[in-house]
Amino acid sequence: MLFPSYRPRRLRKTKSIRKIIQETDLSVSDFIYPMFVIPGNGVKEEITSMPGIFRYSIDNTIKEIKEIKELGIQAVLLFGIPEKKDEHGSEGYNENGIIQKALRKIKEEIKDILLITDVCMCEYTSHGHCGIVKDGEVENDETLQYLGRMALSHAKAGADIVAPSDMMDGRVGVIREVLDENGFQNVAIMSYSAKYASAFYGPFREAAHSTPLFGDRHGYQMDPPNIREALREISLDIQEGADIVMIKPALSYLDVIKAAKEEFDYPIAAYSVSGEYSMVKAAGRLGWVDETKLMMEILTSIKRAGADIIITYFAKDAASILNPSKR
Ligand code: PBG
Repeated sequence: MLFPSYRPRRLRKTKSIRKIIQETDLSVSDFIYPMFVIPGNGVKEEITSMPGIFRYSIDNTIKEIKEIKELGIQAVLLFGIPEKKDEHGSEGYNENGIIQKALRKIKEEIKDILLITDVCMCEYTSHGHCGIVKDGEVENDETLQYLGRMALSHAKAGADIVAPSDMMDGRVGVIREVLDENGFQNVAIMSYSAKYASAFYGPFREAAHSTPLFGDRHGYQMDPPNIREALREISLDIQEGADIVMIKPALSYLDVIKAAKEEFDYPIAAYSVSGEYSMVKAAGRLGWVDETKLMMEILTSIKRAGADIIITYFAKDAASILNPSKR
């Protein structure tokens, strides 16, 4: 049927008619809220390039989690910023490291919050790379045992899901094996499967003090022009035992999310990273865009592309739009 008998505008006439044919539903239960945990007490430091996002000491992390739960957010992704860093990132697998302590405390005080931890060396190494460095190179195979140890220490401290973000080859398999050998068959792995070497991570590196001292991450993170390679990476992670696969960043990689959704029958997560957040906040502050509308449009597009789960610094802001009564 063609114009004038068919008129698509009929279904756009009112809010209620638009709502009834809406194809994509964004929901607070899709969100994972990333948080940065630092040593100390009573600390809450705003990250300059990410207004509204803070580094919290453990006590304040707990307060903040209680607040986001009120908004209906049910999952957090924790990043630790240690007191000291060394070549082997040993604070990353220390039983009394910042993340391990935080996990135990949160578990003690809060019920029903899904605790996910970032498993990567870069926040803990003095050189800021995501693995063990030898002769200026990040050593893949040697790094794996450290990642295994780190994941295990998180599981022991109470992590429900571990999320390896280092992009070493074979790490999902090694982590699965270490967890299973130690009785943590029920701790899931959300793998950063297709993680691109992206300039969108800039603000995060300020937040986590994790800028590499030399070189860059192109030797392990993926090259932005590639999509078939992303599907290979995802397929490998699934074969190695990943339960949830992730694409990161989100906004510039919606095609990758869509392709992954079509190809794999696994839950797909998308990480809307720091730079995506900062751009919107900055333009909003300048008065050049409507920050709130832009945020909702971007999050909706990530969901529409096929993400089942969205990791986003906007989780709180978006939750209060989606559930205004809880604001
Ligand atoms: C750790 C890690 C990074 C991010 C998540 N985990 C930084 C990086 O790889 O340099 C980036 C998240 C963001 O930008 O919000 N490897």
